[in-house]
Amino acid sequence: MKHFINIKNISKQNLKKIILDAKKRKNRRKNLNTLDSDKDTILKGKLLIQMFEKTSLRTRLSFYIAIKQLSGGALTLRPDELHLNKGGESLADTAKIISTFGNAFMLRTDSDQKLMEFKKYITIPIINGLSPSSHPTQVLSDVFTIEEIKKKPISKLQICWIGDANNNVINSLIEASVKFSFKLNIGSPKNYLPNNKLIKWAKNNNGKVKIFHDCKNAAKNSDVIFTDKVISMNDKVNKTKKLNDFKKFKVTQKVMSYAKKDAIFLHCLPRGSEVSDEVFLGKQSKVWQQALNRIYVQKSILLYCFDKLR
Ligand code: CP
Ligand code: NVA
Repeated sequence: MKHFINIKNISKQNLKKIILDAKKRKNRRKNLNTLDSDKDTILKGKLLIQMFEKTSLRTRLSFYIAIKQLSGGALTLRPDELHLNKGGESLADTAKIISTFGNAFMLRTDSDQKLMEFKKYITIPIINGLSPSSHPTQVLSDVFTIEEIKKKPISKLQICWIGDANNNVINSLIEASVKFSFKLNIGSPKNYLPNNKLIKWAKNNNGKVKIFHDCKNAAKNSDVIFTDKVISMNDKVNKTKKLNDFKKFKVTQKVMSYAKKDAIFLHCLPRGSEVSDEVFLGKQSKVWQQALNRIYVQKSILLYCFDKLR
């Protein structure tokens, strides 16, 4: 059985297969409506159960539309309505019921431990729809978007991340940089370094991650400038202090000017004060295309989990 929990634990071959499948399926849908099925009706009769313990707009919509386009259906559980979170039912029993009623489970959680516990008890594929430590479906979709726009393998590009260097999205991006062999420059304040264990893992696996403490050197010659909220959903920090510490790490037009002329700007959304309106709404920004592509990559992630990727 194939789970989709972290990019790190999925082989390069399978990650590339997912991207390739998403490209093919997206191309074949040119004249179809949102809820029209792909011709092969490949997941007919299958049910995706999804649960969000944290807020979500894009992940929720994209998984719902993805399973529909594959001819299956989705059911979204409200965590506050389950016995599990009221203490009346064990996680093991909940996992057993989800496994017998559904065919795949997508979980957005505020606890990595809970995700691992579900993995232990569940007998259907489980997909990580964001945890405090990673956001793999987002980042795989972003690799897809970058290759789509740049029309090149991402291994030929330099990606720059400005901002919080230790959150779920950058962790998954570091993992992706190793799997897809791309250069990754991280620009963050000195006292907000990336996860040390992850950086060591990247180094031991021929990773090309460089850390800078100013935007100019991080962004220089980059093809993509990426950022994310300074305060993530699961952050338990002094918010005022953290926001203040990141003042010099806002993506402005000046920061974009350090990158290549044809560089693009990406942001997984939702956004905060880490990017200026001028950049976010400007010509180099590809954030709406980035968001919509989640649908196509979720479909191929589902097919990977259902062992249907050929
Ligand atoms: N980017 C992303 O995961 O968006 P949502 O939190 O809205 O799902
Ligand atoms: N790092 C952000 C990503 C949101 C999709 C968060 O966890 O809030």
